[in-house]
Amino acid sequence: MPPTQPVFKDLRVPKAGERIRYAHGEPVTPAHPIIPFIEGDGVGRDIWKAAVRVFDAAVAAAYKGERKIEWLEVYAGDKAQGKYGVYLPDDTIEAIRHFGVAIKGPLTTPVGTGIRSLNVTMRQTLDLYSCIRPVRFLFGAPSPMRHPEDVDFVIFRENTEDLYAGIEWKAESPEAKKLIAFINDMLSKDPSTKGKRVDEAAGIGIKPISRYRTQRNMRRALKHAIKNGINDVCIVHKGNIMKYTEGAFRDWCYELAVTEFRGQVVTEEELHAKHGGKLPEGKILVKDRIADNAFQQILLYPQNYRVLVMPNLEGDLLSDAAAAQIGGLGIAPGANIGDEAAVFEATHGTAPTIADKNIANPSAMISSGALMFEHIGWPEVRKLLDDTLRRTVNSGTLTADFADQIEGATSVGTGEFADALIKNLAASEPVPEPKLARKKTVMKRRK
Ligand code: NAI
Repeated sequence: MPPTQPVFKDLRVPKAGERIRYAHGEPVTPAHPIIPFIEGDGVGRDIWKAAVRVFDAAVAAAYKGERKIEWLEVYAGDKAQGKYGVYLPDDTIEAIRHFGVAIKGPLTTPVGTGIRSLNVTMRQTLDLYSCIRPVRFLFGAPSPMRHPEDVDFVIFRENTEDLYAGIEWKAESPEAKKLIAFINDMLSKDPSTKGKRVDEAAGIGIKPISRYRTQRNMRRALKHAIKNGINDVCIVHKGNIMKYTEGAFRDWCYELAVTEFRGQVVTEEELHAKHGGKLPEGKILVKDRIADNAFQQILLYPQNYRVLVMPNLEGDLLSDAAAAQIGGLGIAPGANIGDEAAVFEATHGTAPTIADKNIANPSAMISSGALMFEHIGWPEVRKLLDDTLRRTVNSGTLTADFADQIEGATSVGTGEFADALIKNLAASEPVPEPKLARKKTVMKRRK
């Protein structure tokens, strides 16, 4: 018996369509799934309108009417505040939990106020424990790299703990003072920490990192590597400094690799001790790099990285730096995935200065949709979306953010860009390789 649908206070659930269920952590998708969407604040309004037209056209092109998405609008951010009087209504969380997969636009998060990030709250409440961000030079966006085509990796960022757990107290608050007094007492009694003290006037944030949460993210990363024939998984951490959090993160990732995936992996230590530095055919190399080194590695030798597994904060920072390598946040897609729900989202924010002007670039939202279709087991739609983005961008039809940087490009509005994407869904010529022409700094390929 399927679970009964919760009673939603204020949502118009489509009559046709069914929920996506999960079995052993994988989605089971009906032909007419109901998928909740959050339009988002700011440019979310522009890019969602464009993206949904492209999604529907791609599904129709792939399945000729045999499959169709029934979209269900759910609310968060400013629109929810207007409708429900809260930024993240229970209806929204319950609808995503029940229907299993959702897609969202960006939401405003005020800095330094008492309001917690809606994105972080959603990830924690729905236990979306892996934040997955593919970083790949797919469609000729203006990249600062000399060889952006070498950039092709996926980041698996732990998404529920670390400093993002949101456990913190303001400087000089009674709670911070109480905790500091307790910590200073512990420090003074332990010979190994003698002489260390926390300043009484400090603000305090807690950084929990646990074996279970670390390992379920690593498991997902290794399964991804196996499924996609990838032979390199790198754990990125700052364990040399934070031994019992990020150091433990590294150790627990290795532990999982050599217990659950023993037959499939070789650690870097084993590579040299047992295999003369040569990875045996069909095995996955599991290695680790310290985070500061990883930041330069992905710039200098991106070709040596295919899957990166990271704690929450380091993963957030590296994801945005990596997105710059393939043309910036405006095109970077993201997925937040748990065992019973998944939420797909563009990684950029609400870009308030360009909102409601029909100039925003919907590519990140559309690429996030492509990931969603892959996740629900509709890879034909993912391929159509990837291909049409490449065709359209490489033909020089671009929104202003890209057109301004690319020689000879034609600048079009958000809606017109979506029209071009839909038109190019039907194109039959081969998908072109991304071009590298960037205005002013004309990049020559090294021989
Ligand atoms: P932002 O990503 O909104 O903007 C950064 C720059 O990128 C701006 O120049 C903007 O115009 C440009 N940009 C972003 N998206 C674009 C698009 N689709 N097309 C063309 N240009 C685009 O980052 P910012 O300014 O730091 O944040 C603005 C608001 O967004 C804040 O309230 C922040 O908290 C929120 N935010 C929300 C996120 C989410 O909901 N996932 C993620 C990041 C920020």
